[in-house]
Amino acid sequence: MTGKKRIFSGAQPSGSVTLGNYLGAIKNWVELQDEYDCIYCIVDLHALTVRQDPKVFRERCYSFLAQYLACGLDPEKSVIYFQSHVSAHAELAWILNCYTYVGELSRMTQFKEKAKKHRDNINAGLFTYPVLMAADILLFKTDLVPVGEDQKQHIELTRDIAVRFNNLYGEVFKIPEAYIPKVGARIMSLQDPTKKMSKSDENENSYILVLDSPDLIMKKFKKAVTDSEAVVRYDEVAKPGISNLMNIYAAMTGRSFEEIEREFDGQGYGAFKKAVAEAVIEGLKPIREKYEELMADKGYLESVIKNGAARAENIASETLKEVYDRIGLVPLPRR
Ligand code: TYM
Repeated sequence: MTGKKRIFSGAQPSGSVTLGNYLGAIKNWVELQDEYDCIYCIVDLHALTVRQDPKVFRERCYSFLAQYLACGLDPEKSVIYFQSHVSAHAELAWILNCYTYVGELSRMTQFKEKAKKHRDNINAGLFTYPVLMAADILLFKTDLVPVGEDQKQHIELTRDIAVRFNNLYGEVFKIPEAYIPKVGARIMSLQDPTKKMSKSDENENSYILVLDSPDLIMKKFKKAVTDSEAVVRYDEVAKPGISNLMNIYAAMTGRSFEEIEREFDGQGYGAFKKAVAEAVIEGLKPIREKYEELMADKGYLESVIKNGAARAENIASETLKEVYDRIGLVPLPRR
């Protein structure tokens, strides 16, 4: 091994990559690739907790991989793969289910929100979803998990499960830490800035996708909900819309909130919204171009898929073997 700290993270291919996914997670994943030993997963099994059309889903998974790569994830530097190609995820999830309490899972905010939204399909997978996520992370003896703010609770649960297991069987798992960016960790809906920006929102004007055209991005920002004060000033409580736009602008340009307030002093919201849209369009342009190239080269995508799965499988199967051994399952005789 390299001696570098290990990073693991993932995103669900349940739609396209949003600006929230990009700024809260993927942009940081790209920056961490040189300094850390990084593993980035497309968590396709997680996406099955809501109904997916098989044909659409498969296409979307390919597209999601191309979006990962177009954002700058580099298969030469990082392990990039589909969760369903490494069976140890599902196997370890089963084991960890037996070390996780129903009470703990009932407290998960994401479960409560999703259960409210999908009242007709509150399946067991939705409930045990955080255990699969714990398995993802623990399989790779992960040090750091770069995620947006909304995943913090799941990582705390992962730590609790890992500590519980280690207390029973000795130090098998590394206790991972969440790694949350200072800006961009919680990008809000453009239409209701008290809600998280989400690809599953019914209102398409509420989110930006990294593959949206420049015109569409401009249109969506122009429609973004603000307030009537007409002063660009950061105040999450009184001015959630403007604060969200400032957060986006800060994450895209690297400017501080004070610098942004000075830059737009005396200007109306129209000029500010236009500047935010332009910064986003400019930042996403290379991603869109690279995406088109990648989608035209299925052979390359397949080589990435194959290679990533083999590398992930190597690491994950070792951990699973260790877990099986510690809990007393009978090893398969060699001869
Ligand atoms: P998912 O697919 O919802 O989102 C992927 C990543 O994007 C971040 N994110 C956001 N960040 C800022 N603002 C937003 N509006 C926003 N929306 C999404 C998320 O925090 C996440 O980092 N359970 C995870 C996927 C997962 C995972 C894992 C992550 C499965 N196994 C293991 C880390 C490690 C999820 O649903 O992310």
